Parts: sequence; C-alpha cells; structure tokens
Amino acid sequence: MVVNDDVSMYSKELVRFGYVCLNGFESVFGLPVEDFKRHVLIIGSTGSGKTTTAAIIASQIVRYGHVLIFDWNDEYLTIFKSLGVGGVVVDDVKVPLRFKDFEELISILNDVLELSDAQTYLLYRFLDESDGDLTLYDLVNYLEGLQVESKWMAETKTALLRKLKLIYNSKTVGLYQDLHPLRPLGLTEHGGYKIRITSLNRFKDFKLRRLAALTLLKLIEDFKEVNADELGNVFIFIDEAHHIANSSLMSRLVAEIRKLGVGLILITQSPSTIGNEILANCNVKIVHTLKSNSDIEVIIKSLGVNELREVLPRLNVGEVFVDSPTLKYVARVKIDLNTR
Ligand SMILES: Nc1ncnc2c1ncn2[C@@H]1O[C@H](COP(=O)(O)OP(=O)(O)OP(=O)(O)O)[C@@H](O)[C@H]1O
Ligand SMILES: [Mg+2]
Repeated sequence: MVVNDDVSMYSKELVRFGYVCLNGFESVFGLPVEDFKRHVLIIGSTGSGKTTTAAIIASQIVRYGHVLIFDWNDEYLTIFKSLGVGGVVVDDVKVPLRFKDFEELISILNDVLELSDAQTYLLYRFLDESDGDLTLYDLVNYLEGLQVESKWMAETKTALLRKLKLIYNSKTVGLYQDLHPLRPLGLTEHGGYKIRITSLNRFKDFKLRRLAALTLLKLIEDFKEVNADELGNVFIFIDEAHHIANSSLMSRLVAEIRKLGVGLILITQSPSTIGNEILANCNVKIVHTLKSNSDIEVIIKSLGVNELREVLPRLNVGEVFVDSPTLKYVARVKIDLNTR
C-alpha cells in the first residue's frame, strides 16, 4: 500500500523532508516543487509534529521561491534555530490600512468582526459615497459624521463603531500602516530567496490578529497580481490556519491564488475546523497522527484509503502519511529533523 512514486523521488526540483522505508531500506522522500503550488494541508493532533514538519519543508523549499511564514504563536524562529537553519528574517509587520479594493476589506471586516447585515450595509454605503484608495481611518471618520435617518440606523452606527474601535483605537493605531506598501513583507525580485517570518503574536487582540493575517494575504495577492513574473514563486505557510480558514477571502484564495504562482501551506489540528472547500483545494495532504474518530473518518474519505483507520491514531511524533497527485500511493514518511 505504501510505495513512493519513482518520478517524484528523482525529479530535479524536489523538496525533500523525510524518508520512506522500502523493502527494509530507507530512502529519501520528497515532493516536486510544483506540488506545493497546488496547496498543501499539514494536519495532525496537538503535539504531533506539524509545525516542525512545516519548518523543515520551509527550509528546503526556500531554494525555489520566497517563503513567508504566518507565525501565529511566535514558534518558528526557535524551531529553525534548533534545526540549524540560518538566515531567517523576522518581520514586525503592520496591518495595512489603505486598500485599492476596499470591497474586499469590507468582506474581511465582515468575517473578523462578525457583522450583522445592517452593519455591512453601512460599510457598503461608505463605499458608494467615497472615492479613491480608502483607509480604515476614512471609514471611521465617515461613520462618526454620518447623519442618522432612523432609529435602527442610529443603533447600527453605534454598534458598528463599537466593533471597529475594538480593533482600531488610540492604543492599536501604531500597529497599522497607512501607505499601501509597494513591497509587502520584504518581497523582492526573483532570486535571493529568504525565509521570512511574519510575527502575528504581536497583535494581542485575537480579532486584530485575524485582521492582520487576512489583510496581509490580500496585500500579497494584490502585489503578486502586478509583479507576478518579477517575483518568482511565493510559498505562504499559515500555522493555526483554522483561525482564518472560515473567511470568504481564504475560500477565494485557495481556489484562485495558485494562478499567480503562490502556494499555500496550511497547518491545522483538525479537518473539521477548516471546512470542505479548503480540504478539497489542498491537493497535497501531510497527515500526522489524528486521535478523534470524526477527524480520522474525514481524512480517510479524503485520501480514499480505508486501511489507515487503525494506523492513524498510532503514528509516532513526526510520522506522516503523504498524499499528492504525483504519488501513485499514499506514502508513509518519517519526517527527518536532519534534512539538509
Ligand atoms: N520529526 C520529528 N522527529 C522527532 N521529534 C519531533 C518531530 N517533529 C516534532 N517533534 C517534536 O515533537 C514536539 C511537538 O512538535 P510540534 O510543535 O512541531 O508539534 P505541533 O503538532 O505543531 O504541536 P501543536 O499542536 O502544539 O501546534 C516538539 O518537541 C518537537 O521537537
Ligand atoms: Mg504547531
């Protein structure tokens, strides 16, 4: 059942991250770079080794493109150090304030702040009555000056402003950046690729952290749309992906962003937290041990291998099953901490 595909094993641009045991012999395992542009899901129970697997893959794939790591809990730098991976840059990013496509920001705000229909209506009204590249600041100003025409509007305005002030106030204003950055997250021209960690832990408020992650993704998409060829490949690792998976932006990105040469590597604990759309759009699955029966059933259905039902809950830390369109079979792989 568990056999590697010869083509992927020996292809030139191979991202190695472990080994397989074949007929009593260990051989190096990797996947072609192209697989990572079709989106990857790294999944497994708490402590199963997901973040370490992601860091090892990042250390290899940086040969072929920019690597951006959305680090939810400030874990990656320590892991890279323990793996002996150098040259990693940590970016103290800010939340972009100014958007060409403010409508997308409205949908992000909708997801992050869980707005009611009436509140969303006021955001669209702002969009209708305003021109140019708009900012969150313009929105708050508009709402504060808005003449209310009815009781519901007065209530909606107050409730919306209260929600916006939670993320945009005198204490958090320094975490935003007004200018539309021309080169977000240090993305430079083709070549000279680096691993860049986007530290999200600096946004202490959970909603603000989600807003930061989603707006930065949107910014990268905008930037890549204009500079696709110049930039080369971009691989974005999103740890604790369930925090942003249930958003309209992510649903759209998993379906569309590969066209721009951007691969998403999503890391999460349970398939039930990320939704079927994302599960279906991740062509590669790297599955660590899973403990919950419902999670196991979802993954077995997705991989189409019933025999894994007994094995999945018993995998050791750092042991995974890998499924990819370029593999003939689901491969059982030991993630190698010494991958170089
Ligand atoms: N391939 C591996 N070989 C040996 N030890 C490993 C391997 N991968 C991870 N570990 C160890 O297992 C522990 C948990 O690893 P890690 O933090 O990567 O797991 P995780 O699944 O991301 O956990 P969490 O659910 O908390 O995010 C760490 O101590 C790590 O060093
Ligand atoms: Mg982790």
